[in-house]
Amino acid sequence: MIVVSDIIELKNQITSWKRDGLSIGFSPTMGSLHAGHMDLVETSKKQTDKTVVSIFVNPTQFNDPKDFENYPINTNTDLKLCEEKGVDLVFLPDVKTMYPETKTPILLSIPELQKNLCGRTRPGHFEGVLQIVSKLFHLTEPTKAFFGLKDYQQFRVISAMVENLNFPLEIVGVPTKRESDGLAMSSRNVRLSEKHRETASLIPRMFALAKKTILGGERDIHLLKEILRDFLLTGVSLRIDYLEVVDPIDLQSKEKLSGEVLLALAVFVGEVRLIDNQIIPIPN
Ligand code: PAF
Repeated sequence: MIVVSDIIELKNQITSWKRDGLSIGFSPTMGSLHAGHMDLVETSKKQTDKTVVSIFVNPTQFNDPKDFENYPINTNTDLKLCEEKGVDLVFLPDVKTMYPETKTPILLSIPELQKNLCGRTRPGHFEGVLQIVSKLFHLTEPTKAFFGLKDYQQFRVISAMVENLNFPLEIVGVPTKRESDGLAMSSRNVRLSEKHRETASLIPRMFALAKKTILGGERDIHLLKEILRDFLLTGVSLRIDYLEVVDPIDLQSKEKLSGEVLLALAVFVGEVRLIDNQIIPIPN
């Protein structure tokens, strides 16, 4: 496995693979890799010739400096995991490499897709994501890029950027990998205490309750949200950041429970912010 921190070295390797006619699969990550990331790698290995992973905790997407400081870093374990899984190249840049000082910063934003969910409660977050992801796309020139659907809004915003700005690559969404009790895998889960981990298991149970309530005939979005909120708030140290029902494509708030809806939430369990979502088809 090749590990590079330098842009020129990265570009030389990519150019050489491209010259040989090889396709490139790319998964950008912020490290602390888990089985969910390994699913991205496996999907990439099935669909492309060479698999590239980047590991970079991107400071520009954190609206809360404390969250950035506390973000877990496990580079040695990450590299071992990548090697075991057969990753071809890991790009491991530092902040200066990705953000040399510039007097003319660029802000990318897709306001319509960012006005709800995480875009509403984490101002500036998606501008940071689009900034780093577009830079990484230019550096790695992937044929396909793989993103986990746990970060569903991120997947939609990046897909829209690629489509609107004609980036020459395909975005592939990979289903959320879950723990045995249904909790979505996340690099942040390692920060949960035992008690908080128990509270976090309310999240998958809330999705089950939502489906059961809808199947039972509930069609009032406000009532559904009230039921789900009350359920979540039985958890110790749980605070709801948002709980929303939106259209899965344009991410606008739904007025009615009809067609397909995206039920998405962010909660703080203690200090740890967790997100999850599910697309739920509404029976007629
Ligand atoms: O999903 C993440 O881990 C990050 O938002 C990403 C896509 C690696 C950009 O920093």
